[in-house]
Amino acid sequence: MHTSSHEKVAAFVSTYLDQFRSTHLDILDVGSQMVGGQVLTYRTLFDDPEWNYTGLDVESGLNVDVIPADGYRWNELESDSFDVIVSGQTFEHIPFFWATAFEIGRALRPGGLALITAPGRGPYHRYPVDCWRFHDDGFVAVADHLEFEVVDVFTDWNRNVWEESIVVMRKPVWSPASRDRFATRLWHQRALTATLSPNPIEEAPILDGENGPPAPSVLQTIDGGRFTAVLESLRLKAIAAKEAREEAAKPRIVRMLPNRLRAVLGRRLRPQPSMWGEDIPS
Ligand SMILES: C[S@@+](CC[C@H](N)C(=O)[O-])C[C@H]1O[C@@H](n2cnc3c(N)ncnc32)[C@H](O)[C@@H]1O
Repeated sequence: MHTSSHEKVAAFVSTYLDQFRSTHLDILDVGSQMVGGQVLTYRTLFDDPEWNYTGLDVESGLNVDVIPADGYRWNELESDSFDVIVSGQTFEHIPFFWATAFEIGRALRPGGLALITAPGRGPYHRYPVDCWRFHDDGFVAVADHLEFEVVDVFTDWNRNVWEESIVVMRKPVWSPASRDRFATRLWHQRALTATLSPNPIEEAPILDGENGPPAPSVLQTIDGGRFTAVLESLRLKAIAAKEAREEAAKPRIVRMLPNRLRAVLGRRLRPQPSMWGEDIPS
């Protein structure tokens, strides 16, 4: 996991969830596996006696609790059963990510929050494929597709080689008619990926049983926007730190020259990112 992604989810927890530390929360992490000898995981961010973290991935491995038999139909998970669903650096690896988005939408409690973060650019890396990059507008489209509310959305422009985007979206506390509409759209989504599935498509899922809609998540009261401001301040700090590192890396003689000459010479003496890709990781 990239440190910049871990930092974003840590900031989400401290901005929105710290006030719920004495409250029971169910948390799902989609694409939770610790890959390639990485040491960071979101699990530690949710390490609270009242919080129940579950890691889901399509592969078995470190930090994985649930492996759905069908990556696009999580029949192992109940509908409306999580207050928070996070997913980091995974959506770019899912060929039909909109189908996964619908499963996130189904598994989330009404009023609950889904946080998705994925690179806006960056080197080709396959787990097991590398299909997509995301900008803030793309994540707004995902929220619109689910008919969810956008709570915060952000792209980490110019910060580092990954330039991650992040969205926090809320499943609305829908009327029974709107929940039926979601159930119908979910069934169509499942039907469209049925040919990729090991299991036949089932009857349309009925989301509400005899007891009607489930109780909303305690998170339904959170107002959006604060997290976007926090992310922007982290972005500006990271860019300032990167510029300071680059300045310090210039030869001493260049640093002593007047500003304009130094800018020109500094650019010549530093390796420059090419237009098409192999950017310089910070
Ligand atoms: C680059 S790793 C990211 C792991 C971790 N979230 C991180 O940030 O370090 C991508 C993970 O997504 C998983 N993955 C790929 N397709 C998936 C799918 N359809 N549903 C859930 N996870 C998937 C892969 O198995 C892999 O563990």
